[in-house]
Amino acid sequence: MAAFAAAAGRAGYGFVQTPMFEEIGVFKRMGEGTDVVRKEMYDFLDKGDPPRHLALRPEGTSSVMRAFIQHQPTTPWKVWYSAPSFRYERTQAGRYRQHHQLGVEAIGTEDPDLDVEIIGLLGEFYREIGLRQVDLVINSIGTPADRTTYIERLRSFLVGRIGELAPADQEKVESHPMRVLDTKSPQSAAVVADAPLLVDTLSPDAAAHFERVQRGLTAIGLPYRIDPRLVRGLDYYTHTAFEFRSGALEAAQNTIGGGGRYDGLAASLGGRPTPGIGFGSGIERILLTCDAEGVFGAPARGVDVFVADLTGGEVARDLTFELRRAGISADRGFDARSMKSQMKSADRSGARLAVIVGEDEVAAGQVSVRDLRDGSGQVSVARDELVSHLRTRT
Ligand code: HAM
Repeated sequence: MAAFAAAAGRAGYGFVQTPMFEEIGVFKRMGEGTDVVRKEMYDFLDKGDPPRHLALRPEGTSSVMRAFIQHQPTTPWKVWYSAPSFRYERTQAGRYRQHHQLGVEAIGTEDPDLDVEIIGLLGEFYREIGLRQVDLVINSIGTPADRTTYIERLRSFLVGRIGELAPADQEKVESHPMRVLDTKSPQSAAVVADAPLLVDTLSPDAAAHFERVQRGLTAIGLPYRIDPRLVRGLDYYTHTAFEFRSGALEAAQNTIGGGGRYDGLAASLGGRPTPGIGFGSGIERILLTCDAEGVFGAPARGVDVFVADLTGGEVARDLTFELRRAGISADRGFDARSMKSQMKSADRSGARLAVIVGEDEVAAGQVSVRDLRDGSGQVSVARDELVSHLRTRT
């Protein structure tokens, strides 16, 4: 989370926090035919008169877009979040009813270089935390018009071979033919293998957009594979869609992050037409991938200084406050414990320096500073000069 915040901050994304629940209509734009909307929403009526129909957030993008439309920040509006999401799923390893997404959204520009920035940000984050077996897969869904034309072509193709599809996929042909493309059934997959592809029928604008994204990814050195059948599970995508998949996880749950453009979402939520792009990456799946790859997060950095007060704790109370105010991170022992016990806590805190306060030091207006890492011993410092002394050593 800290690594993600730093990566997003370096790229100019500010933190955003949206409510845990919204009017259900906000989420319906993910697509009436998607599993998330049809089967997985935790929805309820509140105590209003008349009651409002609300739902727990199943993902971050719709809420962020609702906030954008409501508050009209200047664009491009670049934000990141770390947020719980709720989906009534059949639970299994890597698939939970409450999961947590790290995500970013950038709203207000259709520049394909932003697609590269967003995909690059996530790829770089995975690299930074030590993941190596992660593959990037991309596709273009085209403009909304490309999508509509394609859906018609795909539907007539599937109608022609409907008898060969698995029953669950047959049901989708009329209402949501694109959902058949990411079928899990081998029977349907054989039909899908012959289906027309959207990338082959992109309009010149969409093809140019996709071309520039590919050139950008190559330029920043991020390898990718085009999967013309990648459609993602939500309906709002246009142009670029992408997923990062882990080679170390079971295939069923191996997508650790995904996203894409959603240039039609703002208008469908009642706002002015405004392009946008983003991604979400499940924290639980990232952690599973870290385990599977044997990557362990860097140990949390400890505090700079630990204050061990053997005179009752009042000096530690005041000193830690003073040090933190001066920008030096500090922790302390509580409950007036013994020197031995406080020094154990000091070791656990990861502090490099211990400030030790005993009766003699207090009487002399001093404290002792001990280096906990290199064993270079202990020096006495006037209490008034402690901050400037520590500044030279932390
Ligand atoms: P999504 O693909 O539905 O996209 O979810 C994003 C990520 O959340 C997945 O790649 C996965 O890591 C994680 N995830 C989803 N469902 C579960 C679950 N039940 N249990 C554990 N992890 C899960 C979105 O939600 C879009 N809002 C992403 C996006 C942002 N597109 C544009 N901007």
